[in-house]
Amino acid sequence: MPIVAPSVLAADFLNLEKDLQLINQSEAEWFHLDIMDGVFVPNISYGMPVMKAIKKVAKKTLDVHLMIVQPERYIKEFAALGADILTVHYEVSPHLHRTLQEIKNAGMKRGVSLNPHTPMSVLENIITDVDVLLIMSVNPGFGGQKFIENTYDKIKAAKELIERKGADTIIEIDGGVSPANASKLVAAGADALVAGSAVFGAENPLEVIRQLKNS
Ligand code: DX5
Ligand code: ZN
Repeated sequence: MPIVAPSVLAADFLNLEKDLQLINQSEAEWFHLDIMDGVFVPNISYGMPVMKAIKKVAKKTLDVHLMIVQPERYIKEFAALGADILTVHYEVSPHLHRTLQEIKNAGMKRGVSLNPHTPMSVLENIITDVDVLLIMSVNPGFGGQKFIENTYDKIKAAKELIERKGADTIIEIDGGVSPANASKLVAAGADALVAGSAVFGAENPLEVIRQLKNS
């Protein structure tokens, strides 16, 4: 059974507490929080004040996905805001080893995300320091985009790398995930599934979460 991480980006911001309570009551294990800066990605989402409010209501693991340049500047802030997993993008981390050490020292799980075009091989020499590998299955920046099919090959490459290096990294998939592709993703080796529009855009979000869990 995969870990399910609903993406709050697709929640109703006018009724955020209601949507967060819905996830609290669901079978989902994580809240996925997308932080965008309008520089690394062509969109701006929400930041620290909103995350502070989310933390007061959200009773599960906070899985924070930073889509920002120089993410190392904000490690301590996100630890203080209650992040459990802090994920930075490989593409904006020239000193990734140091950044991951700092995330660990701040008491959080270390996440690394790869854009769709970034090959798995760039993690050859760092994978044993990665707790969560977030594979982007859309170009980061927006919810509701179409799933990129090459992701299945990337999951296989990730599994091969993790096994060969003896790492115990969790493979998480982000973008265009729904009950329609969840089983195939899990069969390929996905351990955790992010889903935004599939969950919050549904008539019955709890049922969609149940379907994702049973993939
Ligand atoms: C995209 C974000 C995703 C997004 C997923 O940049 O990283 O987490 O919320 O949304 P869906 O599930 O709608 O593709
Ligand atoms: Zn995300």
